Amino acid sequence: MASINVAIVGTGFQAQYHAAAYAKLPEVELVACCDLVEDARNAFGRRFGCTPYASLTEMLQQRRDLDAISVVTPGALHYSNVMEILASPTPPKAILCEKPPALSIAEIEQMGSTAAAAGVTLAFAFFLAQDPSLRWLCANSDELLGPVYRASIIWRRSGGIPARPSLLAASAVGGAVLDLLGHLVTPLLMLLEAAKPAWVVANLYHAIGAQGGTEGKLDPALIQVEDAGDGRFLVLHAAGACLANFVIEWDAYIPHDMLSIEFEGDKGGATLELDHASSSLVPQLYRVVKVDGMALRLVTTLTQPAVTLDGLHDVEIAQLVRAVTTGQGVPHLVNAELAANVMRIVLGAYESDKLGDTRLL
Ligand SMILES: NC(=O)c1ccc[n+]([C@@H]2O[C@H](COP(=O)([O-])OP(=O)(O)OC[C@H]3O[C@@H](n4cnc5c(N)ncnc54)[C@H](O)[C@@H]3O)[C@@H](O)[C@H]2O)c1
Repeated sequence: MASINVAIVGTGFQAQYHAAAYAKLPEVELVACCDLVEDARNAFGRRFGCTPYASLTEMLQQRRDLDAISVVTPGALHYSNVMEILASPTPPKAILCEKPPALSIAEIEQMGSTAAAAGVTLAFAFFLAQDPSLRWLCANSDELLGPVYRASIIWRRSGGIPARPSLLAASAVGGAVLDLLGHLVTPLLMLLEAAKPAWVVANLYHAIGAQGGTEGKLDPALIQVEDAGDGRFLVLHAAGACLANFVIEWDAYIPHDMLSIEFEGDKGGATLELDHASSSLVPQLYRVVKVDGMALRLVTTLTQPAVTLDGLHDVEIAQLVRAVTTGQGVPHLVNAELAANVMRIVLGAYESDKLGDTRLL
């Protein structure tokens, strides 16, 4: 099989997951990387056996053999990086851009339309979209859930507390809610087939505590961004309306991350809860029955093939490579339309918080 040449833009923390996932695919060779920081790119090049370049421009000029590129720079650069790649004389067949997709809806739409015109698969890295139980639920939701009218998605993180400059500085990424809320919104919008949201009302908390997290001290003097938030969001879909509640928060005092996804439909409900032993989402279906005036939940735990949360990054990369080998976009990946609607909610949360009121989208 012909080798698929891939490259990575930005060689920081998250890039190592992309490189490790590519390394698991025998048909793939990671041939190039670039980073503005010399030590970072050289160390990455040595570790993963690829040629380091000093900038994206230099890499694109010198490598005309790239089939896929991962963009793993800070969020404020995603738009310009992706547009530069798409404008190169020999663009790759597929691009995986880390979240947040960009800092405005107009940018995401332009990235999507430019990629479509160039025949390039452009995917955005929202790894929960790859969960097999969630995908199965989405495929069968008409039959299992009927029209979904309520959703609740809560992620309490014990670690990964924002500490690196790229997460703290609004100019670099835009804050913790921009960094993570999109992960929670994606499963619901997948279920609602990329429905456009109608309004958002959100509270963002500006301080989360005084103890350290896993990625540095939780110093309130440093944590001046939107550290955590909760909000209500009305998402319209074909069959009516779905009211969704999302909570994203950091909590230094819980022993494990807690992630809980719940959908309630006319026919029944479903939950996906993070199990710590397997580090994967466990799906359950339920129906509400009335017995002697009491509402009881009849619960069925499903045995879907589980993938750990970390393993979902590997699935995402494997899907991207599949897009290259088949020459077709892969529906499993988050495309620009879905990404734009996800970000309407995320960006709407900031606007609602600033307004202190509901934000119509
Ligand atoms: N999907 C996930 O679960 C997940 C997890 C962590 C981070 N991320 C995302 O990955 C991206 C990178 O985050 P990170 O934690 O690796 O940050 P990081 O700061 O560790 O790494 C970013 C790297 O990009 C380099 N860089 C900056 N400007 C550049 C440019 N113009 N050209 C080339 N390289 C440049 C920096 O020098 C740095 O090495 C962010 O968008 C973040 O949101 C995603």
